Amino acid sequence: MTKPEIIQQLDRAITCAYAPYSQFQVGAVIIDEQGQTHAGCNVENAAYPSGCCAEQSAVSNMVINGGKTIQHIYIKSSSEHACPPCGNCRQIISEFSDDNSQIHMLDGNNQITSLTLKEMLPSQFNADWLEGK
Ligand code: THU
Repeated sequence: MTKPEIIQQLDRAITCAYAPYSQFQVGAVIIDEQGQTHAGCNVENAAYPSGCCAEQSAVSNMVINGGKTIQHIYIKSSSEHACPPCGNCRQIISEFSDDNSQIHMLDGNNQITSLTLKEMLPSQFNADWLEGK
């Protein structure tokens, strides 16, 4: 997947976003462990808390298509600034990530800022805690 192809998918996802309340469109594209891509956009709701972030819908698409691990997730919004994933999305991403999973945030000029999930979400709560490890 080349950078222009990823940008094309992100821009398409932003176009698909359903954001009539915030007017803040977000697109996300995951590359999974098999190199498959999965896109998502934010989908808002008149009952505001029922809305869904772009990262969350991309994760759902990955799961239904058989992807297991996020290698890369690219995020771009209608803002000129690079948009970081919200706290809830960091947690959702963490469920399907490993220590190498990377989060790439694009600004309006497609400049990329990259961090690992581990950097964005240290001290993760994960399944290990439920198993008493
Ligand atoms: N949003 C995302 O899609 N991802 C984030 O990580 C931050 C926020 C969406 C949710 C809502 O539809 C809009 O942006 C404004 O918060």
